[in-house]
Amino acid sequence: NGPKRIFSGMQPTGQLHLGNYLGALKNWVALQDEGSFECFYCVVDMHAITMPHDPKALPGAVRAAAAAYIAAGVDPAKSALFAQSAVPEHAELAWIFNCVARMGWAERMTQFKDKAGKDKERASVGLFTYPVLMAADILVYKATHVPVGDDQKQHLELCRDVAARFNRDYGDGEMIFPITEPVIQGPGARIMSLRDGLSKMSKSDVSDNSRINLHDDADTIAKKIRKAKTDPEPLPDTMEALNARPEATNLVGIYAALTGRTKADVLAEFAGQGFGVFKPALADVAVEYLAPISDEFRRLVADQAEIDRILTDGAERARTVAAPVLKQAKQVIGY
Ligand code: ADP
Ligand code: NA
Repeated sequence: NGPKRIFSGMQPTGQLHLGNYLGALKNWVALQDEGSFECFYCVVDMHAITMPHDPKALPGAVRAAAAAYIAAGVDPAKSALFAQSAVPEHAELAWIFNCVARMGWAERMTQFKDKAGKDKERASVGLFTYPVLMAADILVYKATHVPVGDDQKQHLELCRDVAARFNRDYGDGEMIFPITEPVIQGPGARIMSLRDGLSKMSKSDVSDNSRINLHDDADTIAKKIRKAKTDPEPLPDTMEALNARPEATNLVGIYAALTGRTKADVLAEFAGQGFGVFKPALADVAVEYLAPISDEFRRLVADQAEIDRILTDGAERARTVAAPVLKQAKQVIGY
């Protein structure tokens, strides 16, 4: 039994936001601090070019993503933090896996269908094989565990299929790659837009001015919460009644996620109170938890040399694990 390892990554596209923090980064930090995993946290800039992108903006976006990871609590002394393109073993293993994964597996991926839209003919081939690259991202570290949201579950299934097929075809009875397990995340991790409580808070939704970005200062955070859309009713005293009200559900969910409580527990405190009371309370909590992150983020982003040094160190550390894994994979397929 090898070491327990975590791999996770985010694309350097757009501005990281409260949803990314509560749905992903906060969990990464908890897994890092738990102490029983070796963690690999990657800025997946090779996935970022599967869709049209601006080459001039990419280096800054990679640094901003790295700064957000660190500001959220990823500690480069504990976890390897690096850019995907700086570790060429990802791409090399991905090619091998392109020859292990079957067309039918990739064709079943719903995210490709969503992102390619109606005009599949014009989507990049890279977008189609994106889940295969993701399998290489994970397995080049023999990662045993991956924190995944709902949207990535199907991709992790494909990664497990690739590992099993590779082991069967080339392992000669040996488990070369682990069958990576999902890490199930805490409840309430899906944050919706403050505009309506209905669409996901997303960095790709450029028209959403209500989004709380990880670089927003304390005043901006408080202002966005005050402006969040709500209904005129006071907060109810049952979860059932809450669930019928999307904006209220979202705001209570944010309060719960920030403070590590359950929504029911937050309701018990605020039932019968209107948003005139709840919003200021939420704004206080949000500022208390997020303002230190956003201060640190803005400090780091201004120090390009520091970020570059951290990313270079992280890539070196990642390669000490990835290189021997790739070498083993190449050996067993006959290179
Ligand atoms: P975006 O939708 O902003 O483009 P990504 O799809 O790149 O974000 O997701 C990056 C990570 O952040 C993933 O782990 C995803 O599950 C998480 N995430 C993104 N948006 C949200 C959200 N609104 N609520 C919870 N988690 C989110
Ligand atoms: Na997205």
